[in-house]
Amino acid sequence: MIAKIQEIFRRQYGSSAATSVYFSPGRVNLIGEHIDYNGGFVFPAALSIGNYGVFSPRSDRKIRLYSENFQSAGILSVDLDGLAYRKADSWANYAKGVIREMMSRGTIEHGFDAAVYGDLPQASGLSSSASIELLFATYCNDAYAIGLSRPELAVLCRKVENEYIGVNCGIMDQFVIANGKKDHALLLDCATLLFTAVPLDLDDHSIVICNSKVKRGLVDSKYNERRAECDAALALLSKHGSLRHLCDLDPAAFEASAVDLPDVLYRRAKHAVTENARTKGAAEQLKNHDLAGFGGAMNASHDSLRDDYEVSCPELDRLVDLAREHGAIGARMTGAGFGGCTVNIVPKALVPAFTTAVTEGYYRTYGLLAEVYLAAPSDGTRKVV
Ligand code: GLA
Repeated sequence: MIAKIQEIFRRQYGSSAATSVYFSPGRVNLIGEHIDYNGGFVFPAALSIGNYGVFSPRSDRKIRLYSENFQSAGILSVDLDGLAYRKADSWANYAKGVIREMMSRGTIEHGFDAAVYGDLPQASGLSSSASIELLFATYCNDAYAIGLSRPELAVLCRKVENEYIGVNCGIMDQFVIANGKKDHALLLDCATLLFTAVPLDLDDHSIVICNSKVKRGLVDSKYNERRAECDAALALLSKHGSLRHLCDLDPAAFEASAVDLPDVLYRRAKHAVTENARTKGAAEQLKNHDLAGFGGAMNASHDSLRDDYEVSCPELDRLVDLAREHGAIGARMTGAGFGGCTVNIVPKALVPAFTTAVTEGYYRTYGLLAEVYLAAPSDGTRKVV
């Protein structure tokens, strides 16, 4: 892959200038969904698939950006003084927004050429955009000696996503992509950004990702709608005493104070509160090698996202049902929902039969060819050459 991206760089820029190569992973969330913005705990892992970038410094103030995944966009050439958002710049806006933000943290007086190539499926809920953001942030941090820590880079990239791109996401994706650890998942407290890396000792089980191939069309508007519903529930619950986040409540305290909530807000808040408890429990279960307990928590998470939070879709539900029928001990949607991927814990010996049965069953119902990947939890964004 490194030779391939270097070749792409040479082809585009025709130069043999000194380059460095960075890798930035995608992510899969094992449990703790839609609660990063409710001050809850999440439990994601960085992946071994992601985005590679080749970078070469320039002596002038130009930035040139090329992605092999968006070949028809060609090379975008911008100036360090001209980094405003432009819809037409598509993927390159993630790079531009990050560079602009990094310029407010340190001195960036000369530009660079960059070529990017990713092996993450696009728009599949594995965080391709956060991966690109951290790729550029990490390169700029090193190349211009800006000196931000990994958690600070994650916070900066989330700011870019919220304010420059205009997507109101939480911190989970950027944080795990920046701070991921090989063979571990991160138990991250999104209220404090304190985290622990928990070894993914799954005995003889694999983490299997199934891509529904349903592009997440509705996700932006529905995501904002869910956030607004959580804010409304928080405002009503705060009448009983000050509350910073929904996830400050445990399930018993929530039930005691939730009597006045309208049905929809009750179900949204119930998801947040119970998901937070499940996530903390699941991390403990994993530490204690209670894989059945861990899988059970994943199953309950999906059911809550489907029934109470209502961010699943029939295709994801079908993939989850098929997975449970064909040997997964835990199966759930992962990421924002409304399409994208499921994550499953499957006994290693069953993976080939599982893959065939799930993809065939899914094809029979929806005529869609699901893709199946084995997840290899990896380190966060890093220089590879
Ligand atoms: C998206 C967002 C995250 C998180 C998840 C749902 O991936 O970017 O911040 O809210 O959805 O858990």
